[in-house]
Amino acid sequence: MKKLFVKTYGCQMNAYDSAKMADLLAPLGYARTDTPEGADMVILNTCHIRERAAEKVYSELGRLKALKAEKARDGGRMLLAVAGCVAQAEGEEIVARAPVVDMVVGPQSYHRLPEMIARTARAGGHALETDFPALEKFDSLMPPQASGVSAFLTVQEGCDKFCTFCVVPYTRGTEQSRPPQDILREARQLADKGAREIVLLGQNVNAYNAQGWSLAKLCDAIADIESIERIRYTTSHPRDMSEDLIAAHGANPKLMPYLHLPVQSGSDAVLEAMNRQHRCDDYRRTIERIREVRPDIALTSDFIVGFPGESDADFEATLQLVRDIGYATAFSFKYSKRPGTPASTMRKQIPEDVKAARLDVLQKLLATQQYAFDDSKIGQVLPVLFEKVARDPGQIMGRTPFSQPVHVQADAALIGRVAEVKIARRTANSLHGTLLQEQSA
Ligand code: SAH
Ligand code: SF4
Ligand code: F3S
Repeated sequence: MKKLFVKTYGCQMNAYDSAKMADLLAPLGYARTDTPEGADMVILNTCHIRERAAEKVYSELGRLKALKAEKARDGGRMLLAVAGCVAQAEGEEIVARAPVVDMVVGPQSYHRLPEMIARTARAGGHALETDFPALEKFDSLMPPQASGVSAFLTVQEGCDKFCTFCVVPYTRGTEQSRPPQDILREARQLADKGAREIVLLGQNVNAYNAQGWSLAKLCDAIADIESIERIRYTTSHPRDMSEDLIAAHGANPKLMPYLHLPVQSGSDAVLEAMNRQHRCDDYRRTIERIREVRPDIALTSDFIVGFPGESDADFEATLQLVRDIGYATAFSFKYSKRPGTPASTMRKQIPEDVKAARLDVLQKLLATQQYAFDDSKIGQVLPVLFEKVARDPGQIMGRTPFSQPVHVQADAALIGRVAEVKIARRTANSLHGTLLQEQSA
């Protein structure tokens, strides 16, 4: 067996892609390992979303250079591939900056990895694949080799929205939805491998539209797979939060009461400059409608502070929106200039110290809300889907319907099952509780 080490940066779709690359290389004799030391192949599956994410790759390549030299001294060869969004955005530059890299492969071309490996083995030199053959890769993918209790499944990829700060439309290409039959087949394969929860992925997952199927219809069809107990989807765009999807949150019992709906800013002026194509009030109304059908839904969002031109008043509007909505949890970032995006050349860039100060204020508010949301579950009995053994001996870890991690003293035989847990307390990042009884076999 040859050893394959894959390091994943960025979003859940990259995690899904990493698993698919490993599946693809398995027939060539590669088995995944947890460390790069001595690996026959290393894939860095990269993220380009913010400057820091992209820079990490180059420092990792520096470290790998030494390991590759060591492997060569021992008479072996370590193939080094850069995949993902940095590969797509900076393909040629990577090879120029880091000649140690053998292969550069974009997110839409990684099904060509086996062929690229053969080519570099034969001829040496560098192989570069950064085309956008729409959906072609999905046809070449292997059935999943394994599945965790919770499994990602990409249903839609790419983005046509061109928010002025964002690289995704350039790295992932245009919006494409996979055919529903393919998705259902993959969902059944995952269920057969032990998945009890399916997380449907897309850069704009709620824009899913193929053969007249909407995301709501897809969720209904997946709910018909008996052993799948829970369905989630991410990431959604406020503009595509259609009525049938909102209604599904009230009608499909397997669709979890959890919605990641990034708003980015609470100021109409900033939303406009970001090209988000909706106003703050539209977002508030959408949230209202969702809460009508699912009052207990856990809402989460992404925020960017310090977008070019953001005034104190704009930032205050964001804080006010957060106070009004009340989030279960949220991600927040300082605006990061991305080459080639319209916002990177906007005048009125915000100084770093202002961004940092705003981020600090926002994150404190969001942390307070997260604690309040978690605390609101203390004393309740919630169905928890157990995913894995925890670090503390005798404990296993699962999630509530609201996606909160819970640690419980219980037998590992419960992993893969839903059981009722009485929530007793909260620590910084997790709830803790005691097992009541098993809910399902
Ligand atoms: N498709 C999703 C977001 C994908 S990127 C959506 O439309 O919401 C994930 C998050 O990264 C974004 O929601 C945004 O908050 C953040 N992000 C994207 N580009 C960024 C940039 N240039 N600077 C800082 N944060 C950014
Ligand atoms: Fe990026 Fe906007 Fe597309 Fe989300 S909707 S991926 S933020 S361009
Ligand atoms: Fe990053 Fe690409 Fe995902 S830029 S967030 S890995 S789509």
